[in-house]
Amino acid sequence: MFTSIKTPIYTTVILLMALIAGIFYFRFNKRTALPYSESVQASGIVKEVSLTAQEGKLSLIPGKEINVWSYNGQVPGPEIRVNKGDTLKINFTNKLPQETTIHFHGIRVPNAMDGVPGVTQDPIQPGEKFVYEFVPKDPGTYWYHPHVRGSEQVERGLYGTIVVEDPEEPEYNQDPIIVLDDWRLNEAGQIDPRFNTGGDLMHDGRWGNLITVNGSTDYSLQTKPGERIRLRFVNSSNGRVYKLDFGELEVQGISVDGLLARVPFNAQGFEVAPGNRLDVDVAIPMISRSKPYVIRDTFSRQTYDLVTLQPSDQLVDEIKTFDPPQAHSFPDWDEAYKAPIDKEYLLNARRGGQFGIEWTINGKAYPNYDPISLNYGVFNKIRLTNQSARLHPMHLHGQFFQVISRNGEPVDEPYWRDTVLVHSRETVDIATVPLDKGKWANHCHILEHAEAGMMTVVEVK
Ligand code: C2O
Ligand code: CU
Ligand code: CU
Repeated sequence: MFTSIKTPIYTTVILLMALIAGIFYFRFNKRTALPYSESVQASGIVKEVSLTAQEGKLSLIPGKEINVWSYNGQVPGPEIRVNKGDTLKINFTNKLPQETTIHFHGIRVPNAMDGVPGVTQDPIQPGEKFVYEFVPKDPGTYWYHPHVRGSEQVERGLYGTIVVEDPEEPEYNQDPIIVLDDWRLNEAGQIDPRFNTGGDLMHDGRWGNLITVNGSTDYSLQTKPGERIRLRFVNSSNGRVYKLDFGELEVQGISVDGLLARVPFNAQGFEVAPGNRLDVDVAIPMISRSKPYVIRDTFSRQTYDLVTLQPSDQLVDEIKTFDPPQAHSFPDWDEAYKAPIDKEYLLNARRGGQFGIEWTINGKAYPNYDPISLNYGVFNKIRLTNQSARLHPMHLHGQFFQVISRNGEPVDEPYWRDTVLVHSRETVDIATVPLDKGKWANHCHILEHAEAGMMTVVEVK
């Protein structure tokens, strides 16, 4: 009699315990699938840098000075190199005639350091100072730029680069950053002061008539036969996309948008959209040759020579034989492929707004938006549906994501991104496992599109 009453109770208790254990096990499993490091061991070493945004002159074309805005009088601004785990402290002064902020594109910073006015901080007024301080968690190639009136301020020359270094990664013979930018100059040879024109807004933003690489119109790098070079491409253009043609060079892609790839990948024809970075491992052949190697942009019918690698006849002094670096761990994304879509963004344009045309996400133009939240530590899948004929390099602050499919076809990109180019009428599914809490901007990196409304905010809780 007793047992017959107690048995169902025991059974229920045991079942409940099993259920709780199951939930824990499931959660634990998800936790082990963390896509990249949640935090970093801080070294306590502080690297302090002063940045001043100011007006100045630059000679882009020899013998001609143009008026630019820059960080510390240089375009690109100072290249900041910092070890992962060190504290980067940036003492910033705004000497521009406009308010501004700095955003550290791709770096997972504490939310308050993300530089987005109205979302994470107040704009920094002319004459004011602000201290940005954070500990970079992920080695890789990043860049910084204003997040106020970006289409004007970035175009005028405000951008710089940050390399987060990992002492465990192999050392190359050379490791230069290659910043790609274009400028629209008027007949007087000055930056055309008409920003956000109807033409720019209706098309793919402001494409310039002069391309520079590291601020130079004919960038070349001296190399030696046998050298291993890590080239770190950054696209700081407002709208222009570069499709890289490496010609006869032997290159392997090793990272996109910061983190190392799972395996080296074929980088030939890689599209570097505004905001994107691409790191490649280049081996300069041993045979000496008289003609240089040229890396070209083949995105449009008109092609451009971007980088000239000029081999000398002197062999490299130290031959490097390491394998290209790759990610220590890379999660199994099967789950992401199977997961349902959590959110969809419809990308489109309509008449209206301050510029006569506005770019919308789900029918809203920023500062109007539908707040979206993402769940911490688990897969969140977002579908980006481009209902327009234009390009939209969509950039998500605060997390890395992976492209899961294009137009419904699964794709296997062995690397992370923070910016993905969504082509005309294309649908791209992305998946992310957010590990950084706060409110993060999510916008098109064609800066004119962003300026005209193509921005939203996601909250990671
Ligand atoms: Cu480089 Cu909000 O972006
Ligand atoms: Cu960003
Ligand atoms: Cu766009």
